[in-house]
Amino acid sequence: MTIELLPLPLPPSADPAGFVDFGKEVRGVDIGNLSDEDFENIHSLLYKHSLLLFRSCDLTPEQQYALTKRFDPTSESFGHGNNKIDQNKKSILHPDLKTIARVPQVQLIGNGVVHDHEEIPEAKLKHPSHVVCHKEILSDEDTARGYTRFYRWHIDAALYNLRPSKVTTLYAIKVPKAPKQIVRYDDGTGDELEVSLGCTAFTSTRNMFNILPPELKSVAVRTRVKYAPHPYVWMAASKLYSNGIGIIPEGKELSYDELPPWDESKVKVYPMLWKNPVTGELHFQVHPGCVAELYIDSVPEGISKEGKLYPDGAHLTNLKQVRELLYTMQRPAIAPKFVYPHDWSEKDLVLFHNRGMLHCIVGTFKPDQIRVLHQCNLAASDDPTGPNAEDVKRWA
Ligand SMILES: [Fe+2]
Repeated sequence: MTIELLPLPLPPSADPAGFVDFGKEVRGVDIGNLSDEDFENIHSLLYKHSLLLFRSCDLTPEQQYALTKRFDPTSESFGHGNNKIDQNKKSILHPDLKTIARVPQVQLIGNGVVHDHEEIPEAKLKHPSHVVCHKEILSDEDTARGYTRFYRWHIDAALYNLRPSKVTTLYAIKVPKAPKQIVRYDDGTGDELEVSLGCTAFTSTRNMFNILPPELKSVAVRTRVKYAPHPYVWMAASKLYSNGIGIIPEGKELSYDELPPWDESKVKVYPMLWKNPVTGELHFQVHPGCVAELYIDSVPEGISKEGKLYPDGAHLTNLKQVRELLYTMQRPAIAPKFVYPHDWSEKDLVLFHNRGMLHCIVGTFKPDQIRVLHQCNLAASDDPTGPNAEDVKRWA
């Protein structure tokens, strides 16, 4: 079969110039039964375009797991692990997930009460709403008028002990028909984005890096990010800005001795920029809510320090300072023109490069609006790679 690539169905809000290498619809493959040759093609297309859409797929949980694993054959467990460590502490993860017993790496997500689904007699699904995690929430009147919010921009990653998944697969089984909603950013910009109910929003983190001014590119290429131990427990009580791209520093994080037992060797310190293994490009890959500290290296010898931020390096431990810097660097890339909100149709399969973008749950559901998706991602077998010496020389 010949693989055919089509542009993504971009909404009018998107600036096509920002999506030249981002996202493709793929036709001409049987995605559940790929030959080795087709898989090799899909593998490099995914790293090149970050998101691949396949329409009208029939995919069992077994096939979805096998496909996801093929991108990282020695990976095994679900990307966020099990929830044993969190039993006595509140975490923002897990309550929305239901595992498919036959293939525990595949999660059932969505909204409403679902019966007899993959041997689950009854699942009560709840689409996550901004109401539980934003500091300021939309009024009932605005919600009734069709306004909604981004929930929480993120990477699929435990960011403690387990390594961030390489690929996430999302397969839509049931999608409600409903009027459009408007995402309101409510961050002083007046930005709004029209979306279908329950779309998934994506933004390229290659673009996030590329649109930074030179002084912030210089900081990005020199910085490593330290995540908190058990970060989702640590920040469970914290509240987000209304655009979902970061946490308001209000001192609501737990102190480290209030956390479940943790081990320094399992704490994750990653480069701020992750190098794409196929294209060599740099992706600004930071989960803003889970970051505790930043290590910034000094500008290397032989490169002018003039006009540089933190030219002699720094170790930022003040959460307000850390989060303000991250917000400045990440907010531009969620402007409506850079966001692809995927409008789900039943039997859509989306594969996305989880180390090359941020994504976000969107929308406000009524209890009787039924949405069913299968999600799979696997804790990776290796850590992401940062910029090499040449990248540092080029951007520092
Ligand atoms: Fe996710």
